[in-house]
This record gives sequence, C-alpha cells and structure tokens, in this order.
Amino acid sequence: MLEQLQPTAGDALLALMGQFRADPRPTKIDVGVGVYRDEHGRTPVMAAVKQAEQQLFNEQDTKTYVGIAGDMKFNAAMVDLVFGEKAQSLQDRVRAVQTTGGCGALRALLDLLALCKPDATVWVSDPTWVNHIPLVKAARLKLAVYPYFDKRGQAVRFNEMTECLSKLGPNDIVLLHGACHNPTGVDLNEAQWLSVAQLAAQRGFLPFIDLAYQGLGRGLDADAFGVRCMADHVPEYVVGVSCSKNFGLYRERVGSAMVVHQDAKTAQLALDNLMVVLRGNYSMPPDHGANVVARILGNEDLRKLWQDELNGMRGRINDLRRALFENFRSHLRSDEFNYIARQQGMFSMLGLSPEQVAMLRERFAIYMPPDSRTNVAGLHIDQIDYFVQAVGAVL
Ligand code: LMR
Repeated sequence: MLEQLQPTAGDALLALMGQFRADPRPTKIDVGVGVYRDEHGRTPVMAAVKQAEQQLFNEQDTKTYVGIAGDMKFNAAMVDLVFGEKAQSLQDRVRAVQTTGGCGALRALLDLLALCKPDATVWVSDPTWVNHIPLVKAARLKLAVYPYFDKRGQAVRFNEMTECLSKLGPNDIVLLHGACHNPTGVDLNEAQWLSVAQLAAQRGFLPFIDLAYQGLGRGLDADAFGVRCMADHVPEYVVGVSCSKNFGLYRERVGSAMVVHQDAKTAQLALDNLMVVLRGNYSMPPDHGANVVARILGNEDLRKLWQDELNGMRGRINDLRRALFENFRSHLRSDEFNYIARQQGMFSMLGLSPEQVAMLRERFAIYMPPDSRTNVAGLHIDQIDYFVQAVGAVL
C-alpha cells in the first residue's frame, strides 16, 4: 500500500534549518525559522519557565491523563491572557481547550469549522505564514487569498483587502494574524481592525484569528487588540493561540483553541464538538508545557518575571530593527529599508528575489526563505554590519 505514495517536496522552511546546520562556515547566519535568539545567539529557556518547571518537578505526583480539554487552569489563564479586561464579561461566550502548539489549535479549529460547513472557503492573506496553506488543505476546506501586503510601500493594502472582504458572506472564513504578521511584520492598526470587525458583522463571514506572537509586537494588551475588538462586534469567531514564542516553549507544543459565540449554549456545543475533534486526533494533550504556563500565569511573582523577560525580548527585537535600518541607511545611503524599524515582531521581508536569496546563502552563508522573509530576532548585533553588506552586495 505504501508504495502508492507520491514523493513530497518536504517543508521548505524546515529543510532550510537542516541546510544551515550542515553549513561549516563560521560566519553563517540563520534568519530563516522564526525562533527568538538572545544576545549570545541562544534560544534560552526563560527564567520563569525554569522556576515553574522546578515547582512542577517537586510537586507533581501523578502522570495520569489530563483529559481531552487539557489543563483547566491553563485554559482559564489563557482566556484571561488573551481577552484581558474583557475575559470576565465574556466568560459565558468563550470556550478554550489546550492544544499541541499553535498549529494544533489551528488544525483543531479548522476541523471544527469543516464539521459545521464542509464547503466553506478559508481566506488567507497574500502572503501568509507558509503552514497556513497545508493546514487549510488538510482540513479539506477550500482556500482563497485576500490582498494584504503592498511590497513596494511595505504596508497593508487595506482598500483592496476590504473591497475583497466586502464581497464575502456566511460561507467564508477569514484568517487574520492577531499581531506580528508572518511573514511581513505589517499589522492592521486599531481603526483597520474595527473596520474588519464591522465588515464581518455586516457580511456574516467568520473571523479566525491566529495569535502566535502576543507580547512580541507592541505589548501583551496591544497585541490582543484585534481579538478583543471582535468580541464587541461579531456574534461568533475563533482564535488559535501559540505559547511557542512568548513563553519560549517551542518544543513543548503548547497552544490554545478558543471559540467565541454570542450564545453560551452554542459556545458549549462548539466546545463539545472540539473535544470530539481532538479525541479523534491525538486524544489528550501532553501536560508539561501547559502546566508550566498555568503556573506562571497563576502566580504573581512568576508572572512578573515572565512579563519582564518578554518585555526584554520585545525590546531587543526593536533595538535590532533600529540597528538594522540605521545600518542599511548609512551603508546604502538610502531610506529604502526604513520600514524595518516600524514593523512588528520577528519578521520583515527584504524584497529580494529568490536568486538574490540564493546568492546570500551561497556567497555569504546567510539563510532565509526564498521570499526573503528575515527573522530579525535571529540576528546578533555584531552580525548586522556583515548582514547589511552582504544584502548590499546582492542588490
Ligand atoms: C516560523 O514561521 O518560522 C515558525 O512559526 C516555525 C514554523 O513552524 O514554521
């Protein structure tokens, strides 16, 4: 049977990680995969995580199953984190389950929506995070693209985006990036979120928000603006959350799938169905990472420690963004790359062609995907000169 399978191209981003590891050149730089690195070039375990893990080690006295929905303390804490001041008033309308990372959340929610409307279309931004596309296809939903990124202006093509969304209806699902748009770093502003929420209410399409970088753009509350704003305008929407980046828990696979409905009974019905989806997939989630997050969010000292570390990470990314654009400006004597300083989160797109990206890899051992998405958070301050000169050499 297995010989019927077709060869696959594999995941390009993950393949790039392998190529980088195998490159022996000491000056090599990985700005490919979206992983935060500190000033020593490491992706550290956060101090708050270490302390929570120690507590967990000392206190955990069983390894029995956590249940399909996962850790209930984690679920409640994540609703508080995502909805902030609104969480209390929304408690009847929001339901959450623990998932295996942000991808687990996205897939579970897509599968749930496929149960509701198997012929629905999921609209993704042009461009979007590479893995959104296989996730939508795996859930057997239709895929379409809405205009989003203006490459030349490095801004949102908001008029074209809303023109497209204003033609959608109840058979459509619109996938939006909550903050730190991946791959462009270009986010909707508050007025734009409000317009999208109002359009969703008028037209009846379902907003689906992927919140993978809360706290790494403008701050924990500011990055949740879009998710919270929807609650005031639309009767129903879903949110996939990742704790990979803001808790640095990448390999522990911690995420949350949330459903919001105006009617508490329907929200509960969605939760019940979500659990059927999960049971039919991996049955019950692992404990470790979610237990750690619940401990951090549930303890004032640990939470403060975590928030301070997260603020430090965001500050470092913004410092790197400034250093990068200043270096580009002085090296190239042009303002072409000024946008890097005003974009949010880990990524910006440098506007290079796949050939230029290949030249960067071959001549300078700089690794980025062919669309020139650059993980600013992967750079070391001492590498910026070399990086800018290399980009200047392939322009
Ligand atoms: C990325 O976009 O680089 C990360 O989210 C890692 C991944 O899974 O692709």
